[in-house]
Amino acid sequence: MKLIIEHIRKNYDGRTVLKDCSYVFSAAGVFVLMGPNGCGKSTLLRICALIEQSDGGELIFSDDGHPLSQDLALRRRMTLVLPHIGVFNATVFDNVAYGLRLRGIRRPELDRKVAEALAFVGMEHKRKQNALTLSSGETQRMGLARAFAIGPEVLFLDEPTASVDEENTAIIESIVLAMRKAGHTMVIMTTHDRDQAELLADKLLIMKSGEVHEA
Ligand SMILES: Nc1ncnc2c1ncn2[C@@H]1O[C@H](COP(=O)(O)OP(=O)(O)O)[C@@H](O)[C@H]1O
Ligand SMILES: [Mg+2]
Repeated sequence: MKLIIEHIRKNYDGRTVLKDCSYVFSAAGVFVLMGPNGCGKSTLLRICALIEQSDGGELIFSDDGHPLSQDLALRRRMTLVLPHIGVFNATVFDNVAYGLRLRGIRRPELDRKVAEALAFVGMEHKRKQNALTLSSGETQRMGLARAFAIGPEVLFLDEPTASVDEENTAIIESIVLAMRKAGHTMVIMTTHDRDQAELLADKLLIMKSGEVHEA
C-alpha cells in the first residue's frame, strides 16, 4: 500500500497545527517522524489513520496505482497504537484477540493468530494474566501484539516507548526492526528519542512549522 498526503491542514480553535503537510509514504519500511512537543505529530498520525478529519488537503491510499476508497475495509488494513493503549479488564489473550474478534475471526484461527502475536512480542507466558496487572512496558508490548495480530499493512505507532523502561524499549525496538525486516508492513511512527529514530528509520522526517520534511 502507498499513502500520499497532499497539503494537509488542521486547525484547533482557530490555531493552525498542521499548515501544509505533503509527503509520499511509498512502500513498506519504517518512517520516523520527529519534532518538538505539540508540533502536531499525533494529529497527523490520527489523520493518516483515518481517525480524524483534516480541514483541507488530500489523503490518497493506493494499491499498485489504484486509489482505494476510504471505507471500513481500508480502515481495517491499518491500525494506530497510542502511547498509552486502552486495556480491558480481561486476560492478555482477550486483549490481544480484540481486533481479531471485531473482524469476525473465530477459533481456532483466533487462537493461532493470538499465539503468534504474543510470541512475536515475547509474551506467550502472559496470556492468562489479567492485562491490568502488566507493567507499563509489558502493556505497550501487548498493544503491539494486538496491532500485529491483525496483520496491518500500515501500522501507526505514536511514541511507542514513552514511559517504557530501557529493557522494554529495547524489546519494542527489536519488534519494529523485525517488522522492517519482514518487509510487509509500512510503519509510520513518532519518537522523541533520536538514537531510536536513527536505529529504526528508513526515512527520518521532521515536523516543523506545520510542515513535514525529510531530514
Ligand atoms: N482535539 C484537540 N482539540 C484541541 N486542540 C488539540 C486537539 N488535539 C491536539 N490539539 C493541539 O494541537 C497541538 C498539536 O498536538 P499533537 O498533535 O498532540 O502534538 P505532538 O504529538 O507533536 O506533541 C497541541 O497544541 C495540542 O494541544
Ligand atoms: Mg504526540
